[in-house]
Amino acid sequence: MMVLGIETSCDETGVAIYHSAQGLLAHYLHSQIDTHAEYGGVVPELASRDHIRKLVPLIRQVCAAAGVGKAELDGIAYTSGPGLIGALLAGASVARSLAYSLNIPAVGVHHMEGHLLAPLLEPEPPAFPFLALLVSGGHTQLVGVTEIGHYTILGESVDDAAGEAFDKTAKLLGLGYPGGPRIAQLADQGNASRFKFPRPMTDRPGLEFSFSGLKTHTVVTLEATRGTREDRADVAAGFQEAVVDTLVIKTRRALRQTGFKRLVVAGGVSANRLLREKLSDLAAVEGCLAYFPRLEFCGDNGAMIAFAGCHRLLAGQHEPAEISARPRWPITQLTPAAG
Ligand code: KG4
Ligand code: ZN
Repeated sequence: MMVLGIETSCDETGVAIYHSAQGLLAHYLHSQIDTHAEYGGVVPELASRDHIRKLVPLIRQVCAAAGVGKAELDGIAYTSGPGLIGALLAGASVARSLAYSLNIPAVGVHHMEGHLLAPLLEPEPPAFPFLALLVSGGHTQLVGVTEIGHYTILGESVDDAAGEAFDKTAKLLGLGYPGGPRIAQLADQGNASRFKFPRPMTDRPGLEFSFSGLKTHTVVTLEATRGTREDRADVAAGFQEAVVDTLVIKTRRALRQTGFKRLVVAGGVSANRLLREKLSDLAAVEGCLAYFPRLEFCGDNGAMIAFAGCHRLLAGQHEPAEISARPRWPITQLTPAAG
């Protein structure tokens, strides 16, 4: 089955062609960083307009790169939530219209299921069941996964997501948007042990996260310095280590509680080098295997949507030709993909 995947939930336009037997044939990503940078964050209306501008040319490009004519497509998968409503509708409208004109099915994919399955695009994919740590701009979740579509949330953030904490702290440090990669870069030049950052909620049982207090801690810490580049690099390094350590501590706890022997890490923050290193070390110590997406598939992309959608289409799942988008959509409402 040949599936076109379309991702437009936030600030990247991603398209890809995935074939159930041949694997990923081609993918393209257009990032809107330049569009939003001067505003210090994503401007939803600008995001929608840019998706509308870029989608059709990108779909043409990805078909050409895969050597696939539109008539050869068997289905279309698009992100139908969660995300920015206007951005989601841009992708949904194009996907539905194209599917209608080609007389093929279209399926709305859950964005976080896309992230969760992204490591399955790698040459040695994890077998089921596994523990997934999802760390993106909107979500921080520990999820028990027994099969595609069967997800149990074991713990999640009660306030900011890990990526959101990176983005907000980056603003406080004058680093702008996008925050995560910029903090990581600055942290590389800093001394993580100069300032003592808390590891929120690790001193009590449970698998919940809370990252919003780290922002306040950053402000207070920064105010006590002269704010030189060295000071800011040390704060960035201390902050990054606090987030990473907290994620590692809770993941260790979840692995021990559940007994899962495989750990899957995905979402934009899974591109963070320190996090990848420390979670790989954790997995080794716990006698588990760790799986990450390749760096380009950590953040939003069309490949993960094509892949997730292909599995749902193969199981005969698709919706009638109505254009719908769900800005809020708990992943636990999904049903298993298999028959
Ligand atoms: O998955 P994603 O692309 O979009 C959402 O679904 O939210 O995640 C984006 C998030 C942003 O908050 C961004 O700052 C963060 O991932 N991020 C990082 C890194 N690269 C992206 N955070 C920390 N370190 C990174 N290297
Ligand atoms: Zn995402």
